[in-house]
Amino acid sequence: MLFVSSLFLSLANLVSASLVKVFLAGVNPGNDTSNILLTNIMVKLGFVTDTTNQTSIMICVAVSFMVVYALRSVFMYFNNYSTGVIGAALGTKFREDMYSNLQTLSLSYFYKEKTGDFISRMNSDVDKIKSTSDIIISFVEAPVMIILGVGRLFVLNWQLTLCAFLVIPIIGFVLEKTTSALKKYSLNQQASIGDVNAKVTENIRGIRIIKSFCMEQEELKKFIKINNHSLYLTIKTIKRDSVVTPSMEIVGGIAMGGLILAGSYFILSGKLNFPMLGEYIMLAFLVTNAVKSLSKIKATVEKVKASAERVFEIIDIKTDEIEPTYIIENTNPQGKIKFTNVVFSYDKIEPVINDISFEIRPGEVIALVGPSGGGKSTLSDLLPRFYDVDEGSIEIDDINVKNYRIKELRELISMVPQETILFSGTIKENIAYGKPNATDEEIIQVAKYANALNFIETLPNGFDTYLGEGGVGLSGGQKQRIAIARALLRDSKILILDEATSALDAESESVVQEALENMPKNRTTIVIAHRLSTVKGANRIFVIDRGKLAEEGTFTELQNTTGIFSQLYNTQFKIKESEHNA
Ligand SMILES: Nc1ncnc2c1ncn2[C@@H]1O[C@H](COP(=O)(O)OP(=O)(O)OP(=O)(O)O)[C@@H](O)[C@H]1O
Ligand SMILES: [Mg+2]
Repeated sequence: MLFVSSLFLSLANLVSASLVKVFLAGVNPGNDTSNILLTNIMVKLGFVTDTTNQTSIMICVAVSFMVVYALRSVFMYFNNYSTGVIGAALGTKFREDMYSNLQTLSLSYFYKEKTGDFISRMNSDVDKIKSTSDIIISFVEAPVMIILGVGRLFVLNWQLTLCAFLVIPIIGFVLEKTTSALKKYSLNQQASIGDVNAKVTENIRGIRIIKSFCMEQEELKKFIKINNHSLYLTIKTIKRDSVVTPSMEIVGGIAMGGLILAGSYFILSGKLNFPMLGEYIMLAFLVTNAVKSLSKIKATVEKVKASAERVFEIIDIKTDEIEPTYIIENTNPQGKIKFTNVVFSYDKIEPVINDISFEIRPGEVIALVGPSGGGKSTLSDLLPRFYDVDEGSIEIDDINVKNYRIKELRELISMVPQETILFSGTIKENIAYGKPNATDEEIIQVAKYANALNFIETLPNGFDTYLGEGGVGLSGGQKQRIAIARALLRDSKILILDEATSALDAESESVVQEALENMPKNRTTIVIAHRLSTVKGANRIFVIDRGKLAEEGTFTELQNTTGIFSQLYNTQFKIKESEHNA
């Protein structure tokens, strides 16, 4: 359809050039216009009866011009509208593809990449691709115009046209010279926009720290530096880009000059008449314009290539979260966990988990304690395969986690991560995140277990209270309790609480603790905690130190040894005692 419409636009150009010829022939008294195709058509249509009647021909030419241009504008509207829509739809599709591929990637990707850069790829680069939709018109229209126009030029005077063809190599050379480096410049420019976005997201996240350390001015300076660098790279691209059209203008000027010289020669030697030269020059002008717009396309394509590369980099990343080739169904989930000689490192050099083996029975409550950086969170991340072990194996209900369908494996596990994450939306939506069809009763029940019901009920809108991005509007402890409720609602066979009550006061913590103990005991629970009071109720305690399982036993057993646990116990309880005595 675009092609047909562009064909019409080019035909309209040809007709208008021909009208110029009729006009020039008509205003020149004594010129016979009867041998001109367009005049013959006018006669056939009954608009003109006498080809020597100048007035009627002129009126006819003027009206034809108006009609041709009116029709042209209708097709132009259609072209602009359709390419605009195509561009917008393309942009939306690219964003969707990027987002959907991003969801498939493993955690390690997100630790490596900057959020701001991703956002700029999704916006600025996609917009750049989108903005080229208007060049799609030229992309269709210009070649059609060139082919039809050049064809007509050959008919009008092939010798002259052959002469004009001498410019083509010059056009190609100039075009190549001016556009070749554009892609590189544009790539740098887009990357710098990514840096600017990355700085903004980082600063907004860290605004509290920036303010408390009075670093506003320093941060502003850093931002200005990055922003100005981006401006510098943008100007470099603009400088390059701006050369393209004027260079083509010079070439066009040379061609026109040559044409006038050659045209005069042909006229003087009687091989071309004046009206024909009029049509010829008008057509040559239109063809040159089409060539110029093609050169613009080339420049735009070079720039867009850079953005497209950045967009497709995201769309094409292959996920390292691969579904197993051999899937075993867990038909009877129990919540049994077995680690066998597990070794894991983030960098594939220094092991963070070093030869750990243990077994957890269904329904057991296991506490992981130990010094910070010991590997507790990492250990819990291995279970849902956020990372894969380097050596050894992890089994849930005697099936290797690598043989589970990833979705089914993760459905077996509910997590309250160390860093509480809530989404913008109501409290209810946040709790029901993993189970959108949960009933109000279920939601209230888990909120009660998580000791969150009391504070939710005091909020003016209760469960319908709207939370900002990241749960803005709640205290740290309140957010944690929402996160606990969310995990409990999923009712998975395995529950992992990573420092889930660290932001709670002793009283709230013991209420949550009590609720967890009172909950139906049909799940295996792994509690990671620094506060030893939290882990008192655990069936067994694992002490993880420098990636190894250093000690194992019940609270009382470990308390009476001379290991890490008893040291931790003594420091924590001594502090308590001294606080008590003070
Ligand atoms: N994404 C990561 N990339 C590289 N190294 C990491 C990553 N996450 C953690 N580490 C490293 O792995 C080690 C174990 O970290 P982990 O978070 O498992 O400790 P932890 O026992 O949970 O500590 P804490 O009690 O402070 O939460 C640390 O030395 C840490 O620096
Ligand atoms: Mg941790």
